[in-house]
Amino acid sequence: MNVTVVDDDMFATTAAAALLERLPSAAPTLGVATGGTPMRVYAELASRSRHGELDLSGATVLALDEYVGLDERDPRSYTAYVRSRVADPLGIPVANVHVPQGNGADPAAVAQAFEQRIAETGGVDVQIAGIGSNGHLAFNEPGSPLDSTTRVVDLSDQTRHDNARFFGGRVDDVPRRAITQGLATIGRARCILLLAAGRAKADALAAALRGPVDASVPASVLQQHSDVTVIADRAAWSRMA
Ligand code: GLP
Repeated sequence: MNVTVVDDDMFATTAAAALLERLPSAAPTLGVATGGTPMRVYAELASRSRHGELDLSGATVLALDEYVGLDERDPRSYTAYVRSRVADPLGIPVANVHVPQGNGADPAAVAQAFEQRIAETGGVDVQIAGIGSNGHLAFNEPGSPLDSTTRVVDLSDQTRHDNARFFGGRVDDVPRRAITQGLATIGRARCILLLAAGRAKADALAAALRGPVDASVPASVLQQHSDVTVIADRAAWSRMA
């Protein structure tokens, strides 16, 4: 496992550099996480693209997860997030952007089809991942089987509370279910770039990287992967130092 601990102001450029170093130049498949942590990394990529320093227009993008019940036009959906923060700024056509459909009539069928879609793309070259304050990976909450695949899950109270900030601070507005790539699915990515920033992630990060590999800390599954790079700021790393 490769680890780089950086000052906050270097987080985005360091993560962007690590990503681009590992991404194949021809038709890469990029796995993207949502949430607050990667936003500035996507902004950094967008800025490089705008300045003609980067061309990812031939990439395929796969998201990790989506809330059940949100329409793709809902700005709080992960579909909207991935389009507005990743695909549009990088000039990636919508046809090459894959996010599970949140408002499908049969979420379990959507999940199954998404697992298939990932395989059809030939697999993820680099997966950007974050970590939840409870150790979740994508929306694989504590207790998720390490061999899980894409499926419908119930969100924990902690996760709904953490994500209420994207819903105007109203926990009740945060969907109760999501479709998420499973831990085994994520583990099939050829390379994983784990991003962690802020003190709220310190305990989860230490448990994931140093504790036993166990379903109670879903991100601990990353210890079993052969190519993981961690970019952490000093606050997130504070329980490891
Ligand atoms: C979210 C997402 C994850 C993300 C994590 C951390 O709920 N489903 O993919 O990595 O929780 O989010 P943040 O970066 O906002 O702390």
